Amino acid sequence: MTPVTLDVTSASQIQRAAAEIDALDILINNAGIAIYDDLSSFEVIEQHFAVNFFGPLNMSRAFLPLLTRSKGAIVNNLSLVALAALPIIPAYSISKAAALNMTQSLRAISAGQGVMVHAVMLGPIDTDMNRGFEIPKAPPESAAAGIFDGMERGEEEIFPDPVSQSIAEAWHTGAAKGLERQFAGFVKAPAKTPV
Ligand SMILES: NC(=O)c1ccc[n+]([C@@H]2O[C@H](COP(=O)([O-])OP(=O)(O)OC[C@H]3O[C@@H](n4cnc5c(N)ncnc54)[C@H](OP(=O)(O)O)[C@@H]3O)[C@@H](O)[C@H]2O)c1
Repeated sequence: MTPVTLDVTSASQIQRAAAEIDALDILINNAGIAIYDDLSSFEVIEQHFAVNFFGPLNMSRAFLPLLTRSKGAIVNNLSLVALAALPIIPAYSISKAAALNMTQSLRAISAGQGVMVHAVMLGPIDTDMNRGFEIPKAPPESAAAGIFDGMERGEEEIFPDPVSQSIAEAWHTGAAKGLERQFAGFVKAPAKTPV
């Protein structure tokens, strides 16, 4: 294990971390922020995009060469609000929706390199992020276990807690997933290495 600390909004810190790490099996893009807003502040929207969208995108780009070498995986911790806005945190919802769409493209582009890209569609989990918001929440430990179970099953979208599980079947068999598969077919397969 090589411990590194970095701010996912800093290109230079991401590059430094990528240079320090020799081998990587799984990149888990977990860093996130959620601020209550009403879409009136451009700055708040930008802050969400910096951490929740450009963070996982830039981390994935920086570590893709190592993951290609290990035939590893990227895990983007997203949210059910990527599928339907929670209007008390609209900027957060938009950033997670954008990150889901980005995850789909990254999945199609990385498939030829043997890298699996997962989206985790978390429901409410009992962490600092939603402290004070009194709704039923799953323990972080069980959500984490659910994520690894979903990876072992090879699920592209992982629904790791009771609230998210309630829509898993509808998502896996739904029109949006069907369209994603259809659109992914437009990505050119990499040229075969001559033998
Ligand atoms: N909790 C939920 O109900 C819930 C639901 C759906 C999705 N999620 C997602 O799950 C993930 C984890 O959230 P959480 O619930 O554990 O939230 P949390 O308790 O607020 O923790 C967020 C973590 O992200 C880190 N972070 C924030 N900005 C960062 C940056 N610029 N660079 C590096 N690290 C940064 C924080 O580090 P510091 O402490 O050092 O700031 C903290 O460790 C997030 O992507 C969140 O959107 C959570």
